Parts: sequence; C-alpha cells; structure tokens
Amino acid sequence: MSDTTPARNAQTASPCVMVIFGAGGDLTKRKLLPSLYNLSVSGLLPERFGVVAVDRLEINSEAFRDRMSEDIRTHVGGDFKQDIWDDLVRRLFYVQGDFKDSASYEHLGGLLEQIDGEMGTPGSYLFYLATPPRFFGEITRQLGAAGLAKETDSVWRRVIIEKPFGNDLDSAKALNRELHDSLEETQIYRIDHYLGKETVQNILVFRFANGITEPIWNHLHIDHVQITVAESVGVEHRASYYEEAGALRDMIPNHLLVLLSVIAMEPPNSFQANAVRIEGNKVLKAITPLSPEDVLTHAVRGQYAAGAMPDGEQVQAYRSSPGVASDSHTETFAAAKLMIDNWRWAGVPFYLRTGKRLAAHYTEIAIQYRRAPFIMFRNTPVEHVRPNTMVLRIQPSEGIELSFGAKLPGPSMNLGNVEMDFCYADYFGNPPTTGYETLIYDCMNGDATLFKHAETVEAGWEFVQPILDVWHALPPRDFPNYAAGSWGPKPAGELLRRDGRQWRRITPSRRDRAT
Ligand code: BG6
Repeated sequence: MSDTTPARNAQTASPCVMVIFGAGGDLTKRKLLPSLYNLSVSGLLPERFGVVAVDRLEINSEAFRDRMSEDIRTHVGGDFKQDIWDDLVRRLFYVQGDFKDSASYEHLGGLLEQIDGEMGTPGSYLFYLATPPRFFGEITRQLGAAGLAKETDSVWRRVIIEKPFGNDLDSAKALNRELHDSLEETQIYRIDHYLGKETVQNILVFRFANGITEPIWNHLHIDHVQITVAESVGVEHRASYYEEAGALRDMIPNHLLVLLSVIAMEPPNSFQANAVRIEGNKVLKAITPLSPEDVLTHAVRGQYAAGAMPDGEQVQAYRSSPGVASDSHTETFAAAKLMIDNWRWAGVPFYLRTGKRLAAHYTEIAIQYRRAPFIMFRNTPVEHVRPNTMVLRIQPSEGIELSFGAKLPGPSMNLGNVEMDFCYADYFGNPPTTGYETLIYDCMNGDATLFKHAETVEAGWEFVQPILDVWHALPPRDFPNYAAGSWGPKPAGELLRRDGRQWRRITPSRRDRAT
C-alpha cells in the first residue's frame, strides 16, 4: 500500500461535490445532511462545495430541499443555526435517476459540470452509496463507464460504502473484485461506524501517547481480554435483513474485530492511514484459524426467548417478532474465544460476546491483568485479592476505569475493591455529533485511517467463516436459549468457566448511573 495520506488537521476540507446515491432514504436526512451541517458549524466545510442527491423519486430540487428541511432541527442537536442550514440547502440539488440506467449517469455528469462551473468546485467528487449493498457493484461500474470515477493529478474521485461488505468470505472477495474493476483501492472508503466512534481513536491515543500503558500491554501482564457489545434493543424493523445475517455476521467480523484490532495491534510507525491500517490488518491475520472441531468449543450462539428487561418491560421472543420465522434458527447472540498468534499475545485469550435483548446497552473492552505474583497477606481476607481490570468503556458513556484493591480503614487487614473512573464527557463535554462528521471530513481530505481496506474486510470474514460453516451444517437444537433481559445463554458462561474464568459482571459506571 502506498502512503499518500495528508496529515490530520482541522482545516477546511478539500473543495468538492458530494453525490449521495439513495438519498431518499433515512440516512441522508438523519445522518448525512446533519453531519454536513455540523461540519459547516465547525467551519470545516469548504466554501466551494455542493451536494447532489440521486434517487428514483420523481421530485425536483426545490421539493427535495423542503423535505430535508422539514425536521432538520431534531436531527442536528444543539442550537440550530438557520443561516448555516440555508447556506447548505442552497447547495443541494436533486437528480431523479435509476441506478441501473446509463442515461442517469450522463445526466448526473452534466449536472456536476454545471455545479463545478457555478460553485467553482474543481471536479472532485465524493460518491456516497447510501443504497442497499446489491447496488454497490452496479453503481461503481456505471460511474466508471461514465468517466466519473477517473482521477487526475488535480482531481479526486472517491466512493464511500457502508457495511455489510458481503455475507461471507467468498461474497466479500467477489464484492472487492467488483469494486476494483472500476476503482483503485485508494478511491474506496469503506465505513465501519465503529471506526468512526471517537473511542477508537481514543484507544490509539491512550495506548500509544502514554508511556505507562505499552510496557504492560502484553502476555507478561495481561491474563485475558473481554470485548462485550451488548444491546438491549431487539431486531426492531430490520427482521428481513437480520434473519439472513444473525448476530455473528452482523457484528463480529466488523465491529468487534475493529475493537480487537485497536486493542491488539502493534504500535504503527505513524498516525498515517496506511501505517495504522497495516498494523490493524497484521493483527487480524494473526488470529489463530478455528478448525471445525474448535468451533464446537470456541463459539457459542443463542437466541432470545420472551423475558423482562431490567426496567420491567416485558418483551416478546425473537421468533414472535414481526417478519421473523416462528421456527427461526437465526442467532441473536454470539460469543467466541480467539487467540492471536504473535509474540505479544501468545497464550492470552480474547473473549468476544454480542447480542440483542441483553440486560443492558453497553459496550466495553475489559483488560484483565494477571494476579500479583506473590501474595504476602496470607491468612487474611486479602489473600483473595482480585486481579486488576482496566475497562475501556465505549458506550453509552465513554471512559476508562481501573479497578484495584485498597485496604479498608481500620486495625485489621481488610480489602475493598475500588475504581478510578475517568469519563470523557467530564473533561471534553458532549458536542452534538451524528458519528459521520469525521468520516465525511476525512474522506474529503483523502485520509483513509478510519476506513477499512479490502484486506481488513477479508481478514474479518476469514475468522468467522469456519463458524458460519459449522453453524450452518449443525442447526441449533436449543433455540431459544436465553431470556430477553439476561446476559445470554448458559454455554457462553461455560466458554470462560472451562478456562477458569468468568465474564465480567457489567455494572454501569458512575456516569451511566447518573444518566
Ligand atoms: C449495526 C448493526 O452495524 O450496528 C446493528 O447492523 C447494531 O444490528 C448496530 O444494532 C450497533 O451499533 P451501535 O453504534 O449502536 O453500537
């Protein structure tokens, strides 16, 4: 991979036109336009800038602008600045088109030339494919055929797509091949919204900008790592997608492995995109592949039955959700144990779990340190000192906590477990964000650090493919096997108990308790 990434800075993004395919969907109204608005409020949107929305709806630019303005205030948060929105809307154009029809791309090309003339944009275009993935190949092919994907020394053309990137290893490879038919890898910006979360960058800073972390970030000091992405929501209105996907495909090859790679990667040589991405890929490729026999002992699946959520809400079973088959075999919970075959992590298990309708909406990475090598407090309650845990909290409130033992005041030797708890919001507040601002800004600037390389996508699927195969061959016999509002099926506990460990009991942080 060549490295041409500009340094990250807070200057206005590079002048361009952003073209949104599938702009009639929710994403444009709820995330993309609010993100552009927020970027404009922060002074990061270029003066020479335009937006073209493409969709099938037969409306004109004026009507589309009205639609987008309808409830924009509720989507942007903070104090609404009408003048900023008016200025953005003035730059918004609508093209009615069919993604499969080459005439639509000719029409689009004409409009882009016209905008370049009027707005002074240089011919650089960011194509955002807010469409179902089945259109990714077709749209990029058409863009290529229409000459809209061609870059020159002074003009860039980039395409953003969002997961799912295939539904198994073969389809992910096929999608990459299709994209590469019309685009260079450097033109493709694959979003995994976990990479867009501030946390991911915060973890890199925490690990690599602080002298105290790296010396103890290895197998000599760390016993194991637990990554939990727990959701309290059910399948909501996405049953048709979720029935096909399931928890494993939906979350593990992408979001959980993003978290794993930032936790486990070696220090990159710099914060340049390729330096970070190369290290991320290396660690994913070092995951020990699972044999079919391993899958039986290293992976656990579950599906929720009816149950009561912690707030008392009674919820129905997954199989009773609208759009879900009454004998569905789709898993709503997945857990796995993996090992990383390299010097740093030899012998350190990483346990991953994720699921819907769990007892809390909570995402964290818990680094469990080894016990002190020698316990000098024999014959006192302190003999049972708990090992230290460092928790990198990702949501709902981001922070870092470190638990350690402390002596309880008094004449006898009694121990209490205490926590140092740092909440980002206490220091830096909570600026309104949709989660897409940084990604769009970075793409405009050609900074691919927070986007996935083709190899990263394939490395994620490489790890889960054996699990998909075994689960497909052996349909579950015990579904549903956990109650909504619990922490998942029993075998998930056994996954760790077998190793003499247990899942961390998730307790809300001070900040979460307060909210
Ligand atoms: C999406 C999955 O990619 O991530 C959803 O398709 C899941 O099923 C969501 O709910 C979780 O994202 P977050 O940011 O709410 O943790």
